[in-house]
Amino acid sequence: MKKRLNNESQFAELIHDLSHDERFQKLKDYTQHGNISTYTHCLRVAKRSFRFSIRLPFRVNEKELLKGALLHDYFLYDWHNHGDKLHGYHHPNIAFRNAKRDFGLTRREQNIIKSHMWPLTLTHIPRCREAVIVCLADKICSIEETLKKDINRLKKLSV
Ligand SMILES: [Fe+2]
Ligand SMILES: [Fe+2]
Repeated sequence: MKKRLNNESQFAELIHDLSHDERFQKLKDYTQHGNISTYTHCLRVAKRSFRFSIRLPFRVNEKELLKGALLHDYFLYDWHNHGDKLHGYHHPNIAFRNAKRDFGLTRREQNIIKSHMWPLTLTHIPRCREAVIVCLADKICSIEETLKKDINRLKKLSV
């Protein structure tokens, strides 16, 4: 229990500055899946990535892991209205450019963002532990959020 609290407070401390930055807070204006904002989605991916990382038998750079996870979808538009049928393919590069401009990125953070949609983005392969973790965490969170949206739609239909 105490270890869990330590982990929770470490997570809160590591994401504090970026998650409170007003540029990052803009993600609250955009919808990711169902009624989940891109802001909430990125926080969920960061949290899940952190939980994976503390269970693994090897060390990861938590600071870079969480910055990459928080910024992996920093593309700054509502993809539902954007009219880009290849959004899934294009957005990692857009998020990368925006994040580099606004926050600066290490090589590891760049790889996390650019490769998070792999294998869709064939040539952008996760090349570090942190990128593999975020790539997996994002897929799990996205499936959960999409299923939740579909379940809510079914519930409405059955009333
Ligand atoms: Fe994404
Ligand atoms: Fe995502």
